[in-house]
Amino acid sequence: MEFSIKSGSPEKQRSACVVVGVFEPRKLSLPGELLDNAARNHISDIIRRGDMEGKAGTTLLLHNVPGTLCDRVLLVGLGKEKEFREREYCQAIRVAVKTLNETGSFDGTVFLTEIAVKKRSVAWRIRQAALIAQEATYRFDQFKSKKEELRRPLRKLTFAVERRNELAPAEEALQQGLAIAEGMALAKNLGNLPGNVCTPEHLAGAARQIAEAHGLDCQILERTDMEALGMGSLLSVAKGSHQPPKLIVLQYKGGKPDNKPVVLVGKGITFDTGGISLKPGPEMDEMKYDMCGAASVLGAIKAAAQMQLPLNVTAVVPAAENMPSGGASKPGDIVTSMSGQTIEILNTDAEGRLILCDALTYSERFDPEVVVDVATLTGACVIALGHVASGLFANRDSLARELLDAGDEANDRAWHLPLWEDYQEQLKSNFADMANIGGRAAGSVTAACFLARFTKKFDWAHLDIAGTAWKSGAEKGATGRPVPLLSHFLLARAGKLN
Ligand code: BES
Ligand code: MN
Ligand code: ZN
Repeated sequence: MEFSIKSGSPEKQRSACVVVGVFEPRKLSLPGELLDNAARNHISDIIRRGDMEGKAGTTLLLHNVPGTLCDRVLLVGLGKEKEFREREYCQAIRVAVKTLNETGSFDGTVFLTEIAVKKRSVAWRIRQAALIAQEATYRFDQFKSKKEELRRPLRKLTFAVERRNELAPAEEALQQGLAIAEGMALAKNLGNLPGNVCTPEHLAGAARQIAEAHGLDCQILERTDMEALGMGSLLSVAKGSHQPPKLIVLQYKGGKPDNKPVVLVGKGITFDTGGISLKPGPEMDEMKYDMCGAASVLGAIKAAAQMQLPLNVTAVVPAAENMPSGGASKPGDIVTSMSGQTIEILNTDAEGRLILCDALTYSERFDPEVVVDVATLTGACVIALGHVASGLFANRDSLARELLDAGDEANDRAWHLPLWEDYQEQLKSNFADMANIGGRAAGSVTAACFLARFTKKFDWAHLDIAGTAWKSGAEKGATGRPVPLLSHFLLARAGKLN
């Protein structure tokens, strides 16, 4: 889809469809009033008759509105003006784009982006609108032999701003929104691919493609390299699979050479059967999404590169498949991590932390400014926070604050959970330096505590995205989260968030 920004009056738009909002009950937004004046009350008459009350989520499509240059006018209900916030704004944009896409307009000019949202800038409104528009038209039909084609899909969207001096910041925000949307689409595509296609090898290929397209450095470490580095923990997870593990490193150098990089580490288990501690059958197919952490850091670094942020960003992705076999790790096995610390594997299904700990130790060599890891790490996080917020842990409160704010700004929220020493004793092992599980209580916290033992040398945060990376049920599919959070975190660090 093509996008542009415009400032001008709604009645003068030569467009297949002009979109304006209606507050509840029956109150036209400002651009709606302008349109109505030009149309000599044609629209307000229709509203007065009760065809459009302004309830959030409702729409009314009008044809041949007099006094205008557009073919159609789409009215979008916004709910009560007093209650109009981020949520309502995003919903209105989503409904508008979906309706435009399904009602035969090739192009649309959206005036909803002129409506003030409390505490949010014009740039925020445009960035979100671009993101939502791309999101609303996302499809994954690569494996359908008959694709559902829309007869007249939406080709071009124009977002309106009130003032000419808003054009420049809006244009920049549009480009940011589109870059983030592309990162999200990449993350969704990788996530939705089945496990037999999206192998560690495939992830490595995807990383190489990003590197080529955006001029990043890409390095893939093979099993032999990991052996030489002493990554006994990562390797113990890959042992049961015919798919060789990969450690993927992507480096974007948009900042000064001596600026320390932000390192993003993503869990890349391309399928998690549980290993010898085999998972139960129902819904096991969803464990193809166990590489969504990896997909999100690839999406975020791609977005950063596309936005040409003045930052250095490094993505580190440990990728492996967790399978049961004659070669697989067994409960009770003890491995030595790259850090030298030994781990008793009491449950082979707690494999995420086993690959992450070596990737985190490896990250030391980049002399990071901060390290943020992203992982579909624990079922317990889904129990704690559901599908709304990602779990956030950090060994520095100011870093946690930054990530919470980024999630808030991005409409991709996280919630801060504790990393207190008190939880560490649950990881005691009789035979090794630590066990890889900490019992049923506070499962997400003990998983984070395990990782904390490998991140003492730098500022570090951990995002548990087990509940937010994909949707189950009828709308099963990857969400692309937390690419928006990560991208906004990077935008803010680059001073580019308006
Ligand atoms: N990938 C899973 C976590 C997961 C489970 C995410 C369900 C989303 C939905 C992870 O590797 C895992 O299996 N974790 C175990 C840890 C346990 C054995 C301590 C879990 O959460 O059950
Ligand atoms: Mn597991
Ligand atoms: Zn897993």
